Amino acid sequence: MARFPEGFLWGASTAAHQVEGNNTNSDFWLMENLEGSVFKEPSGSAVDHYNRFKSDITEMARLGLNSYRFSIEWARIEPEEGQFEASEIEHYREVLLACKENKITPIVTLHHFSSPQWLIRLGGWESADTPARFARYCAHVMRELGELIPYVCTINEANISIGIKKIMKRYALKSGSPGAQVGMNMENMAEKMQKYFMGLSKAFGVPPTEVHSFLAPRSEEGLAVIFQAHVEARAAIRQISPQTKVGVTLSLYDIQSVPGGEENARDAWQEEFVQFVPYLNEDDFFGLQNYTRAVYGPDGLLPVPDDAETTQMGNEFYPEALGAVVRYVSTHLKMPIMITENGIATDDDTRRIAFINQALKGVQDCITDGFQVLGYMHWSLMDNFEWQLGFSKTFGLIEVDRNTQERTTKPSGIHLGEIAKENAI
Ligand code: BGC
Repeated sequence: MARFPEGFLWGASTAAHQVEGNNTNSDFWLMENLEGSVFKEPSGSAVDHYNRFKSDITEMARLGLNSYRFSIEWARIEPEEGQFEASEIEHYREVLLACKENKITPIVTLHHFSSPQWLIRLGGWESADTPARFARYCAHVMRELGELIPYVCTINEANISIGIKKIMKRYALKSGSPGAQVGMNMENMAEKMQKYFMGLSKAFGVPPTEVHSFLAPRSEEGLAVIFQAHVEARAAIRQISPQTKVGVTLSLYDIQSVPGGEENARDAWQEEFVQFVPYLNEDDFFGLQNYTRAVYGPDGLLPVPDDAETTQMGNEFYPEALGAVVRYVSTHLKMPIMITENGIATDDDTRRIAFINQALKGVQDCITDGFQVLGYMHWSLMDNFEWQLGFSKTFGLIEVDRNTQERTTKPSGIHLGEIAKENAI
C-alpha cells in the first residue's frame, strides 16, 4: 500500500458507556435495568475499561497505533444538574495522561449517545434548554482538561435519529435492509415498546411520550436542538481552549442508486447529511462514520441482496463505501475529514482484515486525489456493549473474555498496527 501522509493518525475508537462499565447515573443504565427492557442484557461492568484503561492504551501503543478516540461521560462528570464531580475529571485526566505517556493522540468525544438521567427528566434531546446545558458541561471539561485535548468531537452521530426512524419504518414493513448503524433490538418492537415506555415514563418521572434519550426517533425541533447543542458547545470550547480542534461526527452510508432511484438517493443524502451542512461550516474538521452502503431504487431503499456477504449486524460487507463517502462529503464541506468510525461486526477476523485493507485503499486513493484526511479510527478497539444488542456483536481489534476481562489482541489489531508502523515517518 502506498504511504499515507506524515502525521496521519492511526487508531481505534470506543465510547464510555460501551466499554467502561457501571455508568450508573446515565439514562442507558436506567433503561437497561428496567423490567421489560428492550435491551438484550445490561451493560454491567462492560469491559471494565474504567479500571483497565492504562493497559488498554499501552497495548494500542505496542501495536503501533498513535491515536485513540474515546468519550468522556457526561453522567459521570455532572451526575446531578450543576454538580460537577472532581474525581471524575481526575479520572479522565489520567486517561489523557496515559495517552500522552504512550505518544497516543487523544480524540475526545463529549457525548456518545448516553446522557445523565437528570437531562432526560428535564426534557432530554427535545428540550430547547439542552444546548445551553450541554455547552456548560463541555466548558467545564475543557476548562479542566482542554490543554490535554487536541481534537474534540462534540456529539457522536448527531444525525443518528434519522437512521433510527428509517429502521423502525422498515421493521414495521417487515423488510430487512440497513437502517441505523447501531445496535437496535427490533424483535416484537411495537408491543415491547408500549410496555417499555410506560416503565421508562415511571422511572424518569415524565409522560411516556416525553422520554427523549438520544437514540430515539426525533422531531424536526429535536434535530435542531442537537445541532444547536453542537454550535453552542463549539463556541464554549473555542473560548476556553482555542488550540483544540472542534468537530462533530455523523453516521453516513454510501448512498447509491440503481436506475430510477436517483431522486430517492438525492433525497436521502439531503436528509442524512446535506441539511446539516450550515451547522458544520465553521468546524475545524468533520468526523465521518461509515460502515456500509445504502442503495435506492424507484420505490425506496433496496434490501441487501440475498447473495451479498453480510456482517453480524446484517449490513452488507462493503468497505468501498468509506472512500466514496469521503468524496461525497468533501463536495459540501471545505475542511479536513477525520474518519472517526469504520469497521465490521464479525467473528471471522480474516474478514475484518480484508475490510480494513479495502477501506484503507479507498482512503489512500482519496488522499492521492488531493482530499485531506487526518486519520483513521477503527471501530472498535475492543469487543464491547453494542447498545440494545448487548455483547453479542464483535467489532473489536481486541477480544475480551467478559468472565475474566482478559484481553487477546486479534490478528486484525496486529495488522492495523503494522500498517500504522509502516507509515510512521
Ligand atoms: C456508534 C457506535 C456503535 C457502532 C456500531 C456507531 O453507530 O457510534 O456506538 O457501536 O456504530 O454499531
